[in-house]
Amino acid sequence: MNHGADGPLVWTAKVLTLFPEMFPGPLGQSLAGKALENGVWALESVDIRSFARDKHRSVDDTPFGGGAGMVMRPDVLDAALTATAGPVGAPGRGKAIYLSPRGRVLDQALVKELAATPVVTLLCGRYEGVDERVLDAHGLEEVSLGDFVLSGGEPAALCLIDAVVRLLPGVMGNTETAGEESFERGLLEYPHYTRPAVWTDGQGVERAVPEVLLSGHHEKVRAWRLAEAERITEARRPDLWSPYEAERRARNAEMNKGRRQVRRRDPKPE
Ligand SMILES: C[S@@+](CC[C@H](N)C(=O)[O-])C[C@H]1O[C@@H](n2cnc3c(N)ncnc32)[C@H](O)[C@@H]1O
Repeated sequence: MNHGADGPLVWTAKVLTLFPEMFPGPLGQSLAGKALENGVWALESVDIRSFARDKHRSVDDTPFGGGAGMVMRPDVLDAALTATAGPVGAPGRGKAIYLSPRGRVLDQALVKELAATPVVTLLCGRYEGVDERVLDAHGLEEVSLGDFVLSGGEPAALCLIDAVVRLLPGVMGNTETAGEESFERGLLEYPHYTRPAVWTDGQGVERAVPEVLLSGHHEKVRAWRLAEAERITEARRPDLWSPYEAERRARNAEMNKGRRQVRRRDPKPE
């Protein structure tokens, strides 16, 4: 069990890595760092090499079938995973993830799911990756940061943990902010502006904040922000825009149907 400052179980990330000194790294700073210090979440970084069995402490070997690079050994990873996450099927084992470019791409829905999972074990690969058999034996879920290849799983683990930690209760001061952020409504976020209201850029161009944001009219500001979020999402992310648009159309059709029914029940006097 992992205990926070006040005693209760806290969200815990267990990271298996060949470079334990990379953690907490940037997670030791700012919001995540303060929350870690205050016991809102816990981090355990485990050196995979300490589970090596031979005198050279080797964790990798050449690939069967030939080819370039090295592969991380299943026996070493099995020992590390079993000691860290517990045996397969053990209660409280939580979720075990292998960071991998072949995996499901990390998105806000998965981040939320992980924030609701008390213990998450993250295996960071290096070299060409890990022996496939250990993925099967431990039922590891593969999660990718995106369609590109990193030199190791550690930067992906840092990003995943950062995204989860900011959703934990008590980490972000203003919880309203989270509800309006990109991906929350299936949209990217609207643009932000702050003082000065008119700013002159390096080329001498005066750039003013959109009038509506200075109006103090909350309903108009809300409508402008929604329209901007829709405009940006439509222009930049057709993959997000299509489902959002379909849902919006269905919602409008439903509302129009409701209005027609009310008019039929309650016709205007002649
Ligand atoms: C050099 S990569 C191995 C790439 C692998 N040979 C391939 O082509 O799919 C080494 C490690 O970095 C991590 N990694 C690389 N790209 C990643 C990504 N997009 N998302 C998450 N982890 C990644 C994985 O843990 C992987 O085992």
